[in-house]
Amino acid sequence: MPDIVEIRHLRRHDKQEVTLRGWLYGKRTGGKIAFLLVRDGTGACQCVVEAKQEKFFQAALAAGQESSLVLSGTIRLDERAPGGCELAVTDLRVLQSVEDYPITRKAHGVDFLMEHRHLWLRSPRQTAILRIRHTLIRAARGFFDDRGFTLIDTPILSPGAAEGSGTLFPVDYFGETVFLAQTGQLYVESACMALGKVYCFGPTFRAEKSKTRRHLTEFWMIEPEIAFAEIKDLQDLAETFVCHLVQAVLRDHRNDLALLERDIAPLETVAPPFPRITYSQAVDILHSKDVRRRLEEELERDRRQLQTWITELARIEEQKAKAPRGWSQDKLAQQIQDLREALRDLENSVAHRAEHIRHAQEFTWGDDFGGDEETILSRQFDRPVLITEYPKKIKAFYMKQSPANPDVVLNMDMLAPEGYGEIIGGSQREDDLGALEKRMADEKMNPAPYQWYLDLRRYGGVPHGGFGLGLERTVSWICGLKHIRETIPFPRLMGRIYP
Ligand code: 4AD
Ligand code: MG
Repeated sequence: MPDIVEIRHLRRHDKQEVTLRGWLYGKRTGGKIAFLLVRDGTGACQCVVEAKQEKFFQAALAAGQESSLVLSGTIRLDERAPGGCELAVTDLRVLQSVEDYPITRKAHGVDFLMEHRHLWLRSPRQTAILRIRHTLIRAARGFFDDRGFTLIDTPILSPGAAEGSGTLFPVDYFGETVFLAQTGQLYVESACMALGKVYCFGPTFRAEKSKTRRHLTEFWMIEPEIAFAEIKDLQDLAETFVCHLVQAVLRDHRNDLALLERDIAPLETVAPPFPRITYSQAVDILHSKDVRRRLEEELERDRRQLQTWITELARIEEQKAKAPRGWSQDKLAQQIQDLREALRDLENSVAHRAEHIRHAQEFTWGDDFGGDEETILSRQFDRPVLITEYPKKIKAFYMKQSPANPDVVLNMDMLAPEGYGEIIGGSQREDDLGALEKRMADEKMNPAPYQWYLDLRRYGGVPHGGFGLGLERTVSWICGLKHIRETIPFPRLMGRIYP
């Protein structure tokens, strides 16, 4: 058997004999020839089987989508072929011939795809997202590793809440109730007093009882924590970090972004300086007449778009009714499915928009921004925006009270543009023992499980702080996805734990 070569390297083997291994992704057959599109996870290659190779030809005709194959043959460079070359097959072994792969090129609803997530992962769109996710993880670690940060693995089983008691998952720990970690922060705070600059990167859990396109119950967060850092240092670091992430994806994933139909112009705009505003300024934006006018114009535009799409849908449905069965009908069915989904989304958004605009206008200082306010705010800027000094009462107990205004804290949220909303939350930490104890008492927290944490303010306390970037929210934004469920291999959502 000739040497095994990964499809991504095939072009280096022009006119040579090679073996490739993979899965049948698509097939076209003429009378005397079969074209097998084979994918192996590194790319796809068209493999040509001629009718005169009778045994192989019959096997090729019988094999359905996702049959597993080992093929040998000669490589021919051909710019017209996907991937730039073809394999002229001289040997074909079918490891498993499949006839009834559930995910076809026909249209499938999202529920069906989620039930078949273990197979859905094989589609080109999903593999593109998974590759970008991998690059983001590598770039995130590289960023901190190259700047002298030490990775600290924080525990997943934890005795108490850090981000509010409302989103805790309880676990029975030998008769005692403990919780899945909402964050590694309290632990990296202690580690930064040992090592100066540290970060953790692991799964975190929130029992979010909200079914939104931004919330998972299990998500990955990267959390740097730095001794002697003040809020301005954190803003600078977060800005450099996010630019680094976007650059890594733009550099390595042009093809994947194109496959995802991601408009890269807004990503190319992501460069320092990011706008920095306070919560109070953000509230002024929500109240401004200018923003209101723009939102209303947008709503009008979307209403017209909705009408266009409804007409378009009727046209394609008619076309499909007349189309011959098979490939072209399947393609139209997919178009109809996509358009229906887009229509449903737009309809929903248009239906509630007038109300959202009114809510934004009536937003009261002191309330937390919901998804709708974040969407409005993040649409005002062409790059991520950093918002600081939120009201103390809507933020976590560990955030440092502003010396200038006791009602606000020295925190920062970063909202991604294009309506994506919060991707980073962080703050300078309360380093004053008395202030922290008072805040915990105000929040009616039991201090017993936090004595170790208070020790950090008893023994060599220093100003310090950090932030957490949600990996999946970042993947969603950079890939331009409509929903967070596609950003992680096996999403955990309220109402979904299978597969
Ligand atoms: O703002 P959060 O809750 O901040 C913290 O957990 C801090 N302890 C971080 C720190 O300062 N070390 O969460 C940080 C980020 C959010 O900005 C968001 O990107 C992501 O984590 N996130 C979620 N992602 C998906 N699903 C959820 N339910 C999320 N909740 C937060
Ligand atoms: Mg937050």
